[in-house]
Amino acid sequence: VSQDRKQYWEERLRANAGLRGVGHISHSYSWNGWAYRVKKRGLHRLVRLARLDMPRARVLDIGSGTGFGIEFWLSRGVASVSGVDLTDHAVEHLRINFPELLFFQGDIGDPQFDLPGAPFDMVSAMEVLFHITDDNRYRRAFCNIKDALRPGGYLVFSDNFLRHGELRTAHQASRRHEDIMAAVREAGLEPVKRIPMFMFMGYPVDTTNARRQQIWRRTVGRAARSDRWGAVFGFLLAPVELVATAVASEGPTVELLLCRRPAVTV
Ligand SMILES: C[S@@+](CC[C@H](N)C(=O)[O-])C[C@H]1O[C@@H](n2cnc3c(N)ncnc32)[C@H](O)[C@@H]1O
Repeated sequence: VSQDRKQYWEERLRANAGLRGVGHISHSYSWNGWAYRVKKRGLHRLVRLARLDMPRARVLDIGSGTGFGIEFWLSRGVASVSGVDLTDHAVEHLRINFPELLFFQGDIGDPQFDLPGAPFDMVSAMEVLFHITDDNRYRRAFCNIKDALRPGGYLVFSDNFLRHGELRTAHQASRRHEDIMAAVREAGLEPVKRIPMFMFMGYPVDTTNARRQQIWRRTVGRAARSDRWGAVFGFLLAPVELVATAVASEGPTVELLLCRRPAVTV
């Protein structure tokens, strides 16, 4: 099973260079480019709450893929950032693209996982943890992350936080909000703040309204597949998204959660 999972990502990343491999695989490069801009702003907004002392902060990015998280942290001016990915493919490319940084191959859900370079002030895991379909390994991932954080350190990650029952496919488990929060708390992390990453640019997975999903597929979903329409829709929707995600407390699609390892553990 573990080999299958690794092989899936090795093949997906190898066959789809850049943002299509790590972003939404059926969406065009132009669309994923806009989606990643919105994602970056959301991450920035949430991470500000951690009040990190950037020039001193030591960060680990999990499931780095093509390096979205790595570039994000470099742009914030952190003291150091390193990355872990399940695939040799991602690790090889990251080492070439960021020769001064350290990258490791590893599975964050592994029962024994020593993160080299720990403890960290911040760990990020963007669009990674919901790909761990085994519930024990999912819970284990939070424990591994907590162990890698210094007391008072933060984790930021994305997930779907479903309000209406879970949804599982071969390589993704969209869990219920309460199950995710339970995994976070059981690991000894405290949720700090959750914000939507997208309101309209992501498939509305967290709704019971089938009509809404159908409308999304026929409009945004269709445009997102095309390079030309993806560029037009992305350009028009991105500013709307920035406002909508800033005012809404929850969204119908992927969200970001900031959590903290308590400063004093008893
Ligand atoms: C959807 S991509 C996201 C990449 C990047 N974080 C981003 O936001 O663009 C998921 C990445 O996580 C990696 N991954 C999947 N499962 C993992 C695991 N259990 N441990 C570490 N990395 C994993 C995959 O190889 C892939 O590079």
